Amino acid sequence: MNEPILIAEHLQITFASANSHLEALAEASFAVMPNEFICIIGPSGCGKSTLLRILGGLVQPTGGRVLLEGKPLTKPQRRIGFVFQHATLMPWRSALRNVMLPLEIQGIPREEAKRRALELLELVGLADFAESLPRDLSGGMRQRVALARALVYDPDVLLLDEPFGALDALTRERMNWELLRIWQKRRKTVVMITHDIQEAIFLSDRVLTMSPRPGRIEKEVLIDIPRPRSLDALYTPRFLELTRLLRSSLRWTS
Ligand SMILES: Nc1ncnc2c1ncn2[C@@H]1O[C@H](COP(=O)(O)OP(=O)(O)OP(=O)(O)O)[C@@H](O)[C@H]1O
Ligand SMILES: [Mg+2]
Repeated sequence: MNEPILIAEHLQITFASANSHLEALAEASFAVMPNEFICIIGPSGCGKSTLLRILGGLVQPTGGRVLLEGKPLTKPQRRIGFVFQHATLMPWRSALRNVMLPLEIQGIPREEAKRRALELLELVGLADFAESLPRDLSGGMRQRVALARALVYDPDVLLLDEPFGALDALTRERMNWELLRIWQKRRKTVVMITHDIQEAIFLSDRVLTMSPRPGRIEKEVLIDIPRPRSLDALYTPRFLELTRLLRSSLRWTS
């Protein structure tokens, strides 16, 4: 039997300042298996981004802990790639040089960094835009650059915070398809936050639902749609059934 690659153990966080206390996350416990694709879905402000930052070692919880292959996670690791809710690219660097940045910081020789970055831009379908500045790219393209940058260390785990949230429905559908393709090709473990029920079902092996703030993981829905999946899966009776099931378990949408 495989061991989980990532474990969230009774995670809890309260943000405290001089005159306020805000419990952002009440309880999150779950395990993620290697190569699994998990989506977490929940209402705005329920602590999803906070939970993901904790999983990435970017924020320390007030209670509980994260285990990466059985070892407590206390700081960010190269084995975990992160794509933030809003693409954070350096505006003065080309797409290529944005993807190269983490490797440059690490002191990888320039030619090697360039080769790896170009390969990833190709993987996300942006080989022709390597020299473009972020302002000359569409929103979807910028998110793809951010995805390429997260992949540049070849992390085992990818944490994605609503990476396609700001995109129109059609671009989003295409990006979902691209993401599945990349996940299948590179065999990553993915934990992705989304607001979108369809997106969650299309991509995941399992969907975890969260309550309104202070967030807790409430339910788990297994997505038994066979892989590889194509966009046609969206129109199957099982897909509709799962959509209905998931919607009924999200009490904040009713
Ligand atoms: N560093 C912080 N200091 C104080 N409060 C914070 C901090 N980070 C998040 N919060 C609060 O924690 C709560 C959860 O925020 P979070 O960004 O995790 O929500 P979310 O579920 O990702 O929301 P959305 O769906 O809108 O992205 C919010 O009330 C937010 O104001
Ligand atoms: Mg968020």
